[in-house]
Amino acid sequence: MIRTILWADDAVVLIDQKALPGKVHYLTLTDWRDVVGAIRDLTVRGAPAIGVAAAMGIALGALQLPEASVPETRRTFARLCEAFAKARPTARNLFWAIERMQRRFDETLPGGIAEVKKALVGEAVAIGEEDVEINRRIGLNGKAFIRDGDNVLTHCNAGALATAGYGTALGVIRAAREEGKRLHVFVDETRPVLQGARLTCWELVHDRIPATLITDSMAGFLMAQGKVDLVIVGADRIAANGDTANKIGTYSLAVLAKEHGVPFYVAAPLSTIDRSMADGSGIPIEERNGGEVRELHGVRTAPVKVGVYNPAFDVTPERYITAIITEAGVAKRPCGPSLRRLLRGPA
Ligand code: MRU
Repeated sequence: MIRTILWADDAVVLIDQKALPGKVHYLTLTDWRDVVGAIRDLTVRGAPAIGVAAAMGIALGALQLPEASVPETRRTFARLCEAFAKARPTARNLFWAIERMQRRFDETLPGGIAEVKKALVGEAVAIGEEDVEINRRIGLNGKAFIRDGDNVLTHCNAGALATAGYGTALGVIRAAREEGKRLHVFVDETRPVLQGARLTCWELVHDRIPATLITDSMAGFLMAQGKVDLVIVGADRIAANGDTANKIGTYSLAVLAKEHGVPFYVAAPLSTIDRSMADGSGIPIEERNGGEVRELHGVRTAPVKVGVYNPAFDVTPERYITAIITEAGVAKRPCGPSLRRLLRGPA
């Protein structure tokens, strides 16, 4: 299994996603500031992977906490968490992981700094291990939506690389394959950063799952020809009513899917759900550097002086989503009440 991020000998070891698919290269980071940088520059990306990286980065920072008074230690730790919170704005899992690390800090601080350090390393490792388990459960809950012989369309990368391992949307595809179903995946290249072309295709080739790469603008034509049986994507943040922020281009795909009667599934862990947001209108959408659109891998494809708009995510209203697949079960439309039930857990 591809592992994206690990804790080893008091260091964060992560696959350099910027180097893929050309080079499989793991970086060993021992300074928490480098982990913030890796999240910011997409060396590690994908909502759950960002959460795991932040937890491990905070653990690295905690290892450097000096012996100090309780108020001073609290201030230093708050600054550390704040640096991670500023790394990227959209992925809910980042804030979920920071909050979990903060709770562990509060629980263990009365026991002293040594106890805090041990507990935070343990918590970060647990977040990474749980993520793989959660993805496997998402796969089991979603695999029935893929029938033998189906053509599945996916966008961006919601695979092992976007998580600690196995993946969410690709986890569902992997689970269907493990059950022996024959399937084929159309992969949107996912402009401008090409997570589909570079990362999803790399994973599918690695796992010998039949795949065809398309440019984003080809999806509608394929659907019109009846070549797509279902769409499955991941999520960066899901509002309480089911509105879903995901990689830019997801909304267009969902509208096209509805027009052509193609089911549209979102696969995500419960940690992606933001209960504080009633709907998707308040989800902060990251805007990235215009250079990502003006250039392709360092080659200029537009005049330097042209203005660029580069939102990294869009929001798909719940009415376009057939179901949201989580580790706790499947939320069918209307997604709001079903998500609330899943979040409450078994009665
Ligand atoms: O900008 P990225 O590459 O971090 O965006 C990633 C996505 O949009 C994924 O689809 C999402 O995080 C789900 S990953 C399981």
